[in-house]
Amino acid sequence: VQRIRTHHLAQAKAAGERFTMLTSYDFMTAELFDQAGIDTLLVGDSASSTVLGHSSSLPITVDELLPMCRAVAAAAKRAFVVVDLPFGSYEESPEQAVRTAVRFMKEGGAHGVKIEADASTAHLVAAVVRAGIPVIGHVGFTPQSEHAMGGYRIQGRGDAAQKVLDDALALEAAGAFCILMEMVPSETATSVDQALTVPTIGIGAGAQTTGQVLVWQDALGLNGGKVAKFVKRYADLRGVMTQAVTDYVQDVRSGAFPAQEHTY
Ligand code: KIV
Ligand code: NA
Repeated sequence: VQRIRTHHLAQAKAAGERFTMLTSYDFMTAELFDQAGIDTLLVGDSASSTVLGHSSSLPITVDELLPMCRAVAAAAKRAFVVVDLPFGSYEESPEQAVRTAVRFMKEGGAHGVKIEADASTAHLVAAVVRAGIPVIGHVGFTPQSEHAMGGYRIQGRGDAAQKVLDDALALEAAGAFCILMEMVPSETATSVDQALTVPTIGIGAGAQTTGQVLVWQDALGLNGGKVAKFVKRYADLRGVMTQAVTDYVQDVRSGAFPAQEHTY
């Protein structure tokens, strides 16, 4: 199989085609998603919640996200593997951003990194790009800034659309090969996509972005909590797994498992 590269995502935009991204944090889901045809895998700092159980993406560290990245990169034969630079691992200086991104490429086996940034922090993206590392710029709602933004709120409504556009253009100018937009109105995302040369990815950003991304536990229905309006549930893994575990518990208690065929 041929590895997806940044130019394939650019070609998708030029051809009016769509590409896909799902989060992944471990070997077996990455292998499965890769074989099912997902183009890009995101080792998101959403692992802070989905894997580690924190209530936000702020607490997760580079040392916690690195082994997840290594596992996903080891499994992905075709997908382009992108990892988030966690909160606190890049904001201080371009040097810090490069140092962290280099660790994810070298030790984590990533093919690129994603950075939550805006026009005022575009120099951080530029420094990482200069190090030869492909960068996705994340604009709109940026979960690492949830406290500054006053919670999970839609960005880029009405007059605020200009800021999302300015941020996206600044990150493109800084060398980002792709711009991810989170929780922005479809009209805003559409005008940003049209203003940019590089491809876009959306989550809660409507249907006009080049690519779409979802957190896999949301999309496959493993997450038992409340999910955002932008999530489509493609399966009820929580129901399937709960039934399986309940059956296992019952079988062990009743003596039905292990049976003769499971026994040496
Ligand atoms: O961390 C993450 O999973 C993300 C996506 C939701 C875009 O940043
Ligand atoms: Na993230």
